[in-house]
Amino acid sequence: MSTEVPANGRGDPALWLPVAAALLYPWVLGAFHGAAATGGLTLVAGAWLAIAFALPLSCLALVLFRPERRSVAARRLAFVGLTAPPLFVLTGVLTGLLHSPVKDVWIWSVLWIGLGLASALAKSAQAEHQARPWPRLRIAHGVAAVLILLFVTFHLFNHLTGLLGPETHARVMKLGRLVYRSPFVEPILVALLLFQVLGGITMAYRYSARPLDLARAIQVGSGAYLAAFILTHMNSAFVSARMVHRIQTDWAWATGAPEGLLRDAWNIRLVPHYALGAFFVVAHLVCGLRQVLLAHGVRRELADGVWGAGLAGAAALSAAITAGLCGLRL
Ligand code: HEM
Repeated sequence: MSTEVPANGRGDPALWLPVAAALLYPWVLGAFHGAAATGGLTLVAGAWLAIAFALPLSCLALVLFRPERRSVAARRLAFVGLTAPPLFVLTGVLTGLLHSPVKDVWIWSVLWIGLGLASALAKSAQAEHQARPWPRLRIAHGVAAVLILLFVTFHLFNHLTGLLGPETHARVMKLGRLVYRSPFVEPILVALLLFQVLGGITMAYRYSARPLDLARAIQVGSGAYLAAFILTHMNSAFVSARMVHRIQTDWAWATGAPEGLLRDAWNIRLVPHYALGAFFVVAHLVCGLRQVLLAHGVRRELADGVWGAGLAGAAALSAAITAGLCGLRL
């Protein structure tokens, strides 16, 4: 159903905000690295890192600010802007794999300006207020999520044990690998994740055609982030590390040893990438749980309470895992 909401991005300056955020992102990470390399982890360095997190997250704010006045193109581009951390990691890894003579940051900049222009000039975006219910895809998405949850719960717990040291992390991972890297489970896990990515992008595309409230915006935004995160993460682990460089995908690989995540100019991009990955995977599940509770007649206040507590838990879990990856030990 067409509405008065502008569909394409022509004449909508908001469209360029996600582009600006994405263009600034690598430079802000660079400023953090510069500050940390010269002065250590000072307040100034911390402020740069906070801005690096704020840039992609500001794209979510754009979706929520005066939603009825946002063009569909600007809203969709804002969701892509939210995924800047994994997309910048992917750009860096692919640039390396292809031995590109052009630095990743320039490729990144050209791609984003091109995306901005394409969105501004596109005629095809449709403004729709009714997202199709798509019951079968949503049920399949939910069933696959439950199976993936088994792996993700273990995987995040495994990374939490990094707080106890690399040896503990390795011992737990060795046990888990017996299951998730077995010839039977691993292909199923990868297939389920790819199915989730494709189905999730399809649904996010439809939902982003209309104004969204806070809960829906976080659900769609976290789904978009996870789609980019999963593709990037699997490319890093399966293609770059295991197939091409033939290195172990262990704690040392994840933490960019020996330099570590914070003090290396390339590795620093992994901090927002991992931190928001751990946060959004839990946030996405909690948003799904809220929908299920509401659909089963649970009072909105209670469903919102569970949702809010879940988001707070997701933030705490993400902070703990990221602190461990960055070197904190208990
Ligand atoms: C803090 C965030 C994360 C870190 C540091 C991390 C790190 C790792 C590491 C080190 C591996 C290699 C495991 C191995 O060799 O056995 C791996 C594999 C994998 N990760 Fe993550 N991960 C994170 C979050 C996630 C999330 C949120 C997902 C899913 C949504 C995910 C999905 C996977 C998958 C599917 C594999 C491949 C498993 C296999 O080898 O079969 N990761 N990750």
